[in-house]
Amino acid sequence: MRESIQKAKVLVEAFPFIKQWSGRTVVVKYGGSTRSGIDELRNTLQDIVLMKFVGMRPVVVHGGGKDITRATEKLGIRSQFVDGLRVTDLPTMKIVEKILGGKINKQLVALIHSLGGRAVGLSGKDGAMLQADRIKSKSGKDIGFVGRVSKVNAAVLNSLNREQFIPVIAPLGIGKDGRTYNVNADEAAGAIAGALKAEKLVFLTDVPGICKRKEDPKSLLSTIKANQVPKLLKTGVISGGMIPKIQACLHALKSGVHKTHIIDGTLPHALLLEIFTPQGVGTEIIP
Ligand SMILES: Nc1ncnc2c1ncn2[C@@H]1O[C@H](COP(=O)(O)OP(=O)(O)OP(=O)(O)O)[C@@H](O)[C@H]1O
Ligand SMILES: [Mg+2]
Repeated sequence: MRESIQKAKVLVEAFPFIKQWSGRTVVVKYGGSTRSGIDELRNTLQDIVLMKFVGMRPVVVHGGGKDITRATEKLGIRSQFVDGLRVTDLPTMKIVEKILGGKINKQLVALIHSLGGRAVGLSGKDGAMLQADRIKSKSGKDIGFVGRVSKVNAAVLNSLNREQFIPVIAPLGIGKDGRTYNVNADEAAGAIAGALKAEKLVFLTDVPGICKRKEDPKSLLSTIKANQVPKLLKTGVISGGMIPKIQACLHALKSGVHKTHIIDGTLPHALLLEIFTPQGVGTEIIP
């Protein structure tokens, strides 16, 4: 009995948050690096299904860098990076599309259905959602079909929302030339959150958040203001895979998103903790 009362208390405590969040959009970027196990993935998707059922509007964007590297290696194609960007020639692009738009995207959709939710998997090419411009590396080198998001057309997301579907988006863009472009998943999530004027943008990754010393989880920075970011970048506190995330957060905040978060996707129910408890988890980046 005591245990049941405790469970009821948890629900009552969550009630103000459920009310506050009803009808609000939350864009969740699911990092490839958090794909450590099917149970963790299931926990995350369970949270997303629950968010949908209590009236929120979750939108999922996923990455998949590691799966792409594995798939190209299998075919004997060596992954090449210039200034942190994957060189994407036509054969590589075909694999990228297969892995991101096919394998990973459909796995997430199928799992959401198995958990009682309703999802539609799509890439940024559908409905010309993510329009992309071809970019060069910082040093001016041609890196193939790598694009930067130039425009987001959210029409397809709005129509899915009307039918209560959870959109699951693979970060592929469509160029003016009609070609497919490899777009950074963090950037795609930030652009989509901005276009939807989302309430929150949440990055699920494999570390507790942004840490002052990368290897030391105890040095977690729980709040970062947008104006502190340039210094954190300059001093190298934020590096590697964290750079596109923080840039996406800044872009989203500038576009009217209220709060952005970088949290540990391997922590069970990290999303629920972030949204339905006053403490929150990880790092929040605020205006
Ligand atoms: N200050 C920092 N605090 C914590 N992690 C940091 C920091 N600076 C850089 N990092 C690195 O950023 C990584 C997270 O980005 P990464 O691109 O690897 O994952 P992801 O974006 O979640 O997954 P994917 O790129 O596959 O979609 C961490 O594992 C860590 O090594
Ligand atoms: Mg990354």
